[in-house]
Amino acid sequence: MNPREIYSSRLGEVVLFKVSRLGYLVLEVSDFPAWEYFGTEILGLMAEKNGSGDALCLRMDGQAQRFRLESGPADDLICLGFEVESEAALEGLAKQLSAGGHAIQECDSETATSRGVPRLFRTNDPSGLEVEFFYDIQESKVPFVSEFVPGGFVTGNEGLGHVVLNARDHNETEKFYRDLLGMRLSDRIAMRIGPDVSLDTDFYHVNSRHHTLAFAESGLPKKMHHFMIEAREMDAVGQAYDRVLASDLRIINTLGRHSNDKMFSFYVRTPSRFEVEFGWGGVKVDEETWEVEHYDRGSLWGHHRPPRPTGQ
Ligand SMILES: [Fe+2]
Repeated sequence: MNPREIYSSRLGEVVLFKVSRLGYLVLEVSDFPAWEYFGTEILGLMAEKNGSGDALCLRMDGQAQRFRLESGPADDLICLGFEVESEAALEGLAKQLSAGGHAIQECDSETATSRGVPRLFRTNDPSGLEVEFFYDIQESKVPFVSEFVPGGFVTGNEGLGHVVLNARDHNETEKFYRDLLGMRLSDRIAMRIGPDVSLDTDFYHVNSRHHTLAFAESGLPKKMHHFMIEAREMDAVGQAYDRVLASDLRIINTLGRHSNDKMFSFYVRTPSRFEVEFGWGGVKVDEETWEVEHYDRGSLWGHHRPPRPTGQ
């Protein structure tokens, strides 16, 4: 298969290989104890001991690692892990990326083992973010149990949730995620953020989750604006909100419902100062009938910024 044949989506042809779901995030964090408390006691995730003890792993279902936290000063997302359906799809995607001009390498077996996968490929997106690809990730031997979110989280075919990235270059980012990873546009929100300034955010899906990834040229310094986890039960959102109110953590956006994915959610600042959206009830995409919409506001109601307390 020649490169032109593989990398043909710019010409309006079919993308041959695509990612299936978001499998894990690797975060570099400066404060492990704060994150262990935040992840388990506030978000209701489950800590998993990893073999070498150099990372803190947090689970939201049977998978052994959904969030791999490594120690360092970045306090940011450092890697997105996407799952593909098979070893053949992994190799095909690697060829597709290479033909599209993105250097891609297979990681050594030690790194693959650290992620709990048989083979692992890695490249960088146009903003310099590491992006990994795998299939057949390891499940934990211990069942997932959450004291704080007993109903659990929406994962399975929809993956861990979504991420919203601060992209350096809109067009290059679009080419990478849409043309090379096979993501499909769900919708766009153009929000007025000043008298003559609007911020455009594009939302992309890879399965029935409304968006697995969104990005905007926000100019913000971190690679990620926020990640979202979706509870199975609506009350879990209110209960998490209550836990945040009872803590010294900061609510960034109050309870509200988004205009596009209809997610009922709130946003809280993490110990790394990016945000987490804790949600419930996002709409599902039916690829056969989905129509791309344009919105001029992010929320139907709520998601207000609370007054900022002195000293924060
Ligand atoms: Fe979100």
